[in-house]
Amino acid sequence: MDEALRDVRIPPGVPDHLVMIRFIGSLVFPLALRSALEAGVFRALADGPSSVGAIAKGLALDEAALGRVLRALAVAGIVTVEEGDVVGLTPLGMTLSPHAQVPLAAVASYLLSDVTLKPLMELATSLRGGSASQPNGATGGWYGGDLKRSQAMDHAMGDYGVLSPVAVAEAYPFGNFPCIVDIGGGLGHFLAGLLKAFPAIRGVLLELPQTAGRAREHLKPMGLAERCRVVEGDMFEKIPSGGNLYVLSKVLNNWDDHRAVMVLRQVAAVMQPDARLLLVEMLKSNTPSYEEVVRDLVLLTSSNGGRVRTAGQFEALLNSAGLTLNRIVEARGGYSLLECCKA
Ligand SMILES: C[S@@+](CC[C@H](N)C(=O)[O-])C[C@H]1O[C@@H](n2cnc3c(N)ncnc32)[C@H](O)[C@@H]1O
Repeated sequence: MDEALRDVRIPPGVPDHLVMIRFIGSLVFPLALRSALEAGVFRALADGPSSVGAIAKGLALDEAALGRVLRALAVAGIVTVEEGDVVGLTPLGMTLSPHAQVPLAAVASYLLSDVTLKPLMELATSLRGGSASQPNGATGGWYGGDLKRSQAMDHAMGDYGVLSPVAVAEAYPFGNFPCIVDIGGGLGHFLAGLLKAFPAIRGVLLELPQTAGRAREHLKPMGLAERCRVVEGDMFEKIPSGGNLYVLSKVLNNWDDHRAVMVLRQVAAVMQPDARLLLVEMLKSNTPSYEEVVRDLVLLTSSNGGRVRTAGQFEALLNSAGLTLNRIVEARGGYSLLECCKA
């Protein structure tokens, strides 16, 4: 991590009361980042440095206010501001550029959007046992049918999709399974990666109608339409049969135990005795990582009973649905693959 950013969060050798004040004040940095992302600053800097004045003019922004936001991002190590107010992206800032090797802009925009931030602002309500203000919940369905929110999630998942599938794909012998059913597979980033890597396998993507439509559009130009069937449906009601491997990637963490078991029962109902189910999840550990607690609090506030779970908690859910946990494979990037079969 960039030293300047590290210093914003945990400055060494500073007295505790100042560390605390700095820690609280560090809230402004992600918000400054959100404003820059929204305004298009990272796209404006994608092809190289530019002056504050030129960026402001190009994006119709207030030059003075932009200069102040960019100074904050410079303190965080995300941009450089040189003589003559010339602004450039640091390697850290480059991760948000459209040309980034691992594109993060959609994930960042999603995590910093009202969808995530507004419920987090009401964390105190959750502490008192209140329900999430904008649940993914059982009653309203996934995002209560809100098209904009589910689209933002699809895009963010696309970027997450770039982060995890390579690590996941190399950790498990997906090529051994002639037909893979990806349940709640988003736009199909993960499945498409597998189909490209293993030309002999077929895929089935189950998604809610709105996302299924977007998934078809996404898969069409890749020439994978013949090998990947996109099925519109509801995983709580019916899962497509015929899979040798069923995948639930970052799906169960969005739901409470009752709903998670409902999905698992539907999977168990269509699995042949030799079929496998693979859960791709970040597991709760005894020594929580930064990523784990961020995800857990987002789930606490933005989902209906969703959470980061321990391997033991997953095993209990699986057993209640007539499934057994065979083994856990650790993938790079903090994800674990839980291989399961019928009990
Ligand atoms: C967190 S995303 C995970 C996407 C993908 N599996 C991945 O790993 O990137 C959860 C997905 O579950 C889908 N989903 C939510 N409720 C569903 C339901 N009832 N039936 C099918 N899919 C659903 C959402 O549309 C969304 O794409």
